[in-house]
Amino acid sequence: MTNILVSVAWPYANGPRHIGHVAGFGVPSDVYARYERMKGNNVLMVSGTDEHGTPILVQAEKEGVSAQELANRYNRVIAKDLADLGLSYDLFTRTTTGNHEHVVQEMFTQCLKNGYIYKGTQMVAISPSTGRTLPDRYIEGTCPICGYEGARGDQCDNCGNELDPIDLKNPRSKINGETPIFKETEHFFLDLPALAEANLAWLNTREGWRTNVINFSKGLFKEVKPRAITRDIDWGIPVPVEGWIDNPNKKLYVWFDAVIGYLSASIEWARRQGTPDAWKKWWTDPSAPGFYFMGKDNITFHSQIWPSELLAYDGEGSKGGSVGSLGHLNLPTQVVASEFLSMEGKKFSSSRGIVIYVKDILARYQVDAVRYYISVAGPENQDSDFTWKEFVRHNNEELVSGWGNLVNRVAVLLFKNFGEIPAVETSSLEQIDTDLLDETAAAFDSVGDLIEHHHQKAALNEAMRIVGEINKYISATEPWKIKDNQGRLAAVLHTAAQAVNDANVLLAPFLPHSAQKVHETLGGTGIISPLPELKDVEDLDKPGFEYPIITGHYELGVNVAPWKRAEIVAGTPIAKPSPLFAKIPKEAVEEETERIEAEIAARQDAEKKRLEEEKAKLASK
Ligand code: MF3
Ligand code: ZN
Repeated sequence: MTNILVSVAWPYANGPRHIGHVAGFGVPSDVYARYERMKGNNVLMVSGTDEHGTPILVQAEKEGVSAQELANRYNRVIAKDLADLGLSYDLFTRTTTGNHEHVVQEMFTQCLKNGYIYKGTQMVAISPSTGRTLPDRYIEGTCPICGYEGARGDQCDNCGNELDPIDLKNPRSKINGETPIFKETEHFFLDLPALAEANLAWLNTREGWRTNVINFSKGLFKEVKPRAITRDIDWGIPVPVEGWIDNPNKKLYVWFDAVIGYLSASIEWARRQGTPDAWKKWWTDPSAPGFYFMGKDNITFHSQIWPSELLAYDGEGSKGGSVGSLGHLNLPTQVVASEFLSMEGKKFSSSRGIVIYVKDILARYQVDAVRYYISVAGPENQDSDFTWKEFVRHNNEELVSGWGNLVNRVAVLLFKNFGEIPAVETSSLEQIDTDLLDETAAAFDSVGDLIEHHHQKAALNEAMRIVGEINKYISATEPWKIKDNQGRLAAVLHTAAQAVNDANVLLAPFLPHSAQKVHETLGGTGIISPLPELKDVEDLDKPGFEYPIITGHYELGVNVAPWKRAEIVAGTPIAKPSPLFAKIPKEAVEEETERIEAEIAARQDAEKKRLEEEKAKLASK
């Protein structure tokens, strides 16, 4: 049994999440965690909402609430969405907890002590009209690397490179279009050059990473510069240095703190279990692997910033140093980054209305239909496109006709003919029966191997190929025509039921909600596919601060559905089945398309109006 850390990217709590987000980090991390648990491994899956930095501040200003209020609002929305998707976090928390603040400050302090954080100066952008610092993300301009015109001050979404606002050509404020002025201020820097050799050495020992991810990651080391890890901003974690800690206008940079969330959430989980050191099994034992799931725009932070922070903490850069009080911390095993999902050929954009929120899609369609689509057509290895037409097609042709109808057909035949799983003599099995059972048994290895190596699309296709084989078996044996040979009928239906049960286990990581139903349809008891719980807790360190967490009793499933054939038991009663998946009417495609088009038009009008108002305000000053 291995202790496996599953680290999932932390969504910003600045709005509800859309399907593009959860396709990249959400469903894939859950499929992986569920599979590893079924294999008998000890998974710790952690994440939370990312609540600091300018993304939160700017949205708070727009909504006319404080940053904390905004974070509270969307932390709750996001936690509910992710729980409704069935994502089995051991702990989904947030970055405004007291625990997180302590852990982040501990990391900072040790890195400072080891000499990898130092004080220097930096040019920052100021808005000439307000005199306030202009957040990186709210500066737009031309990328100095690839020439993309819509690059942000912190990052270019076109080439994926990190940027400094001062590097942008033709910089302008996204808030009102004005040109920022730059001013020198004091900041702390992470000495990435002093960590680069160790960081790259670690990258060079990585195996099995997706080609794009490893190439991009290594490319980051062609030129390494120190990076400012504090900001002139009044929202974030206080800088734990005398003269800074009480300064309301200097805070830690959001990315410095966010990646530490994996560690702080593991610690919070352990504290909440009443075993405060239990997190160490996943962090200080070098034999425990850690897999990090995210979209490709986060690679830099997980292949460079986070490993460099860890190396600095462990005292393993070119300046040496000592291990901090938390112990020697593990670096990631693999950065499992996905590509981007677009929507009907366009880039997702909440502000432009090109979006389908998790909440909305779950309100109209079955959760496993959504999970299925993401798994079968998501951006695992290359950019992919969400279309309503394909969503409906995958649901109707594969989930409903392929899998749901198979389960239903077999269950109805069992119910009508026997009312239970019939007993069968091994001797009455024919070649066609044993061939099918050999095939479904072998799929535990083939599907498992693919999931283990993060080829989830191929894994799901392989599981669905098995479903196809079972359908072929039913067509070939025609059990409804077997009238006066009860022995043969029992053999066929027993075989079919066993094969369906096998396929159900193979599909359970992808389709946890329906897996439980199939299990019960075949007379199974107990939980094969535990679902997460959403519950309110009080902060462990800030009395009175309450928030929702996602957690769960995932160990429940491990005994009932280990990753291998569970022999079905003759005599198990079979009740009248009800259909598993709902067919989506073809008209849904048109309805959904019209909905988006209306939304896009409305947002365009609103944005035009807003910019005009801002410009008028500026002109009248
Ligand atoms: N909030 C970031 C984003 O949405 C992701 C942060 S991942 C973290 O792009 F774990 F580093 F926090
Ligand atoms: Zn670029």
